Amino acid sequence: MQIFLDTANREEIARGVATGVVAGVTTNPTIISRENKPLVECVRAVLDVDPTLIVLVEVISDRAAGMVEEARKLAASSENIVVKIPMTAEGLAAVKCLRRDGIRTTVTLVFSVNQAIAASCAGASYVAPFVGRLDDINADGLRLVREIKALFKVQNAATGVLAASIRTPQSVADLFAAGCDIVTMPEKVLHAMFRHPLTDAGLRAFMEDWRKVPGGENAFAALHRKGQLAQCQS
Ligand code: E4P
Repeated sequence: MQIFLDTANREEIARGVATGVVAGVTTNPTIISRENKPLVECVRAVLDVDPTLIVLVEVISDRAAGMVEEARKLAASSENIVVKIPMTAEGLAAVKCLRRDGIRTTVTLVFSVNQAIAASCAGASYVAPFVGRLDDINADGLRLVREIKALFKVQNAATGVLAASIRTPQSVADLFAAGCDIVTMPEKVLHAMFRHPLTDAGLRAFMEDWRKVPGGENAFAALHRKGQLAQCQS
């Protein structure tokens, strides 16, 4: 179970990484265009924040040969990069070729079970169903993910599911419960996952009560004094 951030913005990634729960980032041409800098600089900025992050970068060619060439360059530039290939017939041919090269791929823009089957048969490491874009048109993104997961299980498929196009924190919980390997989300959804009014109220009450503890303001400084706890225990 891994959480990715759906952004190429350095500040958003830094805030996400600081929470300790982000393992990677996903980009697409739209996300990259928002940063107003070349692709290479965007990737460098991500890895500057945390060199262990997995970075998903999409090819832009519409022909298999072009996709393969772009993917090889991306993969050679950093071992952290997983190449995103669009769900087209040309894309599937590229995935097959990249699989032979040992280059990891995520087939993106997946909106049906049959597309997921095709991507897995071609050798995709992951498929990325776009949950929110289906929900936007009154279809059922979660249902699609459940169907893909069930089918991959029956067929013992080696392809993972990376759920993309996420709109709400509830969707994150539902998608992990459905067995997604990775869910990628915008920053606001990530931070919404952490919040609960009862956590805020509980913490406020604890802090108010702590003021009643004798010596409470210096309690932790006292713990640091050498031997303090050892003396208590003996
Ligand atoms: C991720 O890689 C996808 O491209 C992204 O989640 C799409 O999200 P959107 O539907 O909000 O544009």
